[in-house]
Amino acid sequence: MQTRTLGSTGPRTSALGLGCMGMSALYGDADRAESIATIHAALETGITLLDTGDFYGMGHNELLINESLRTAPSSLREQALTSVKFGALRDPDGGWSGYDGRPAAVKNFAAYSLQRLGVDHIDIYRIARVDPDVPIEETVGAIAELVEAGHVRHIGLSEAGAHTIRRAVAAAPISDLQIEYSLISRGIEEEILPTARELGVGITAYGVLSRGLISGHFTRDRQLAANDFRGMSPRFQGENLQHNLDLVDALRKIAEQKGISVAQTAIAWVLAQADRRGADIVPLIGARSRDRLTEALGALDVVLDESDLRAIEEAVPAGAAAGDRYPAAQMGHLDSER
Ligand SMILES: NC(=O)c1ccc[n+]([C@@H]2O[C@H](COP(=O)([O-])OP(=O)(O)OC[C@H]3O[C@@H](n4cnc5c(N)ncnc54)[C@H](OP(=O)(O)O)[C@@H]3O)[C@@H](O)[C@H]2O)c1
Repeated sequence: MQTRTLGSTGPRTSALGLGCMGMSALYGDADRAESIATIHAALETGITLLDTGDFYGMGHNELLINESLRTAPSSLREQALTSVKFGALRDPDGGWSGYDGRPAAVKNFAAYSLQRLGVDHIDIYRIARVDPDVPIEETVGAIAELVEAGHVRHIGLSEAGAHTIRRAVAAAPISDLQIEYSLISRGIEEEILPTARELGVGITAYGVLSRGLISGHFTRDRQLAANDFRGMSPRFQGENLQHNLDLVDALRKIAEQKGISVAQTAIAWVLAQADRRGADIVPLIGARSRDRLTEALGALDVVLDESDLRAIEEAVPAGAAAGDRYPAAQMGHLDSER
């Protein structure tokens, strides 16, 4: 397995991380046994980074990771790095009521996550969305105290904008920024990515398949469960969906010429941005079955040369997607979009 170091202060991880969110929430029902088998298969192939959030299924995802780690061979368990997001406030009906980054809340969230995960430390800990009512220095400072006490190893950020990254780095060492980055979500390229690079902050990129939209497997007639995020996502609606799937068809032609899949092309493109520009970008793969994991891992063997990258850029130019990456209310929570 290829490895990358997250930023100038972060841990060494596998070049792809496994994002476990879809195994508990947001993309409809998942198969528990297959989810655990997927985590085991990922660890066996050398994936070390497991990403979760305490609010993914209200603790369900952390308990799933706990079970997966407990039932994995100890050598694999020991190499696993947990990356945990906190701060989202939920209600019993599955609703979202904001974010809490107050220091006492940070320590409360961490205490519960350590217990649910069944680990003695969390490798990377980050607030899922910057709390607009709490200075980032206070939130990050509370995590720094958890680092000092041995409960956390590294501090991360999620969906933070350039100004916030700068303030956070001045307050404590930051390993990485977790943020959406894909062929059709390139908003970080102008300011956030250069800032992260300047400050030695790595990138763990999520949504590299735009939640399946550019995986090559998503079809216009796919029926989504009532609780599937994509049923509310602007990019998956009506004419937007058709436009975006037309982009996928253009990408498919390039993939077919190279004898690889659309998903592998999209993941390899994100990996290539790291190679070309010298930064540390680790894509988080949202696979929840071993088949999808195997496909995603194939991206590590794909070489995109300059002419491939030019062809991809022509097929899917920056800004080509129709629709925002989140519904309006959730866009409002993104410090990265301010
Ligand atoms: N910081 C944040 O704000 C934030 C937000 C969202 C996610 N995340 C993290 O990032 C991780 C990845 O995000 P994501 O799940 O949206 O990413 P993604 O990889 O763009 O999308 C995953 C979806 O793509 C589909 N897919 C099709 N082919 C695939 C393949 N070969 N490999 C993987 N997936 C394939 C899967 O569908 P099927 O399973 O239906 O086949 C799955 O629903 C999450 O698990 C979570 O840990 C962070």
